[in-house]
Amino acid sequence: MTLTASRIEITPTEAALGAVITGFDVNSVEPEVILQLKQAWRSRHLLIFKNQILTDDQLLAFANYFGDILQQPAYIRKGETEEYLPPLVLTLANAAPEESSVNIRPNYQELLPHIDHYWLLVPSSGSFLYAVEVPENGPNTYWINLAQAYDELDDATKEQISGLQARYFNSYGSKDRDEYGQPKYAAGRASELGERVAIHPLVRTHPDTGKKILFFNAASDVDIVDYDHVEGAKLVAKLQEHIKQPRFAYRHQWSKGDLLYWDNQATAHYRPEFDAHATRILKRVSLRGSRPF
Ligand code: SIN
Repeated sequence: MTLTASRIEITPTEAALGAVITGFDVNSVEPEVILQLKQAWRSRHLLIFKNQILTDDQLLAFANYFGDILQQPAYIRKGETEEYLPPLVLTLANAAPEESSVNIRPNYQELLPHIDHYWLLVPSSGSFLYAVEVPENGPNTYWINLAQAYDELDDATKEQISGLQARYFNSYGSKDRDEYGQPKYAAGRASELGERVAIHPLVRTHPDTGKKILFFNAASDVDIVDYDHVEGAKLVAKLQEHIKQPRFAYRHQWSKGDLLYWDNQATAHYRPEFDAHATRILKRVSLRGSRPF
């Protein structure tokens, strides 16, 4: 199915999620185009705009059609005060762009399947990633359809996880593990860590579509609240394997000028490690979301 609105074309990928948008110019956006994009985003969870040339201000202005920009907290830059607040447009790069050596987060190690800002009480609703410079031979980034991942759970697992809460911790590199391989914070440090711990329903209801979402990511420290520790660890391991199944995923092969906008309320994403010497520069903006229910 290909929809045509003004000059743009919206073509669903053949994968479990994603739609490619062509003929789109961020500088001349008509109201019906924004509406069509919102509808396509809701049904396909990920929009892929080709051949964009964007300044940071244009990226922010475009993102604002879809919501308020999320300001990440200062502590993720190892500070507690305003001077450490990350910029609204984050540069993810393994090589510093010529114009700037600040605001760069080295970024070439593997990123396990994650939902952006799952470690906040109010995670982001969506994120934009804009390819300024990408190596010819990858890496690819993979998006996972968590609505489909929920639908395809067996009935017994659906029953088991109904009403459960997952506790996530923004470890930023902490490797503290207990004897079961679970994060040590779960054993009682949660209150000490304050806002770096977030508890979310394991099955989330999408705030726009009402669909059930397996709101779970394999990136880091998670345990199941008020649940047997060993059984919880088994469940976490099972769900981590479940969401990694290729049939739930779209694989994006990046080209310079690609702009992707995805739904953090219905997807997780993953990127393998790549050559630290390859030049890869992306800009990321995230939108404020609402508390999962
Ligand atoms: C991210 O997960 O924020 C970045 C993904 C990528 O580098 O492709």
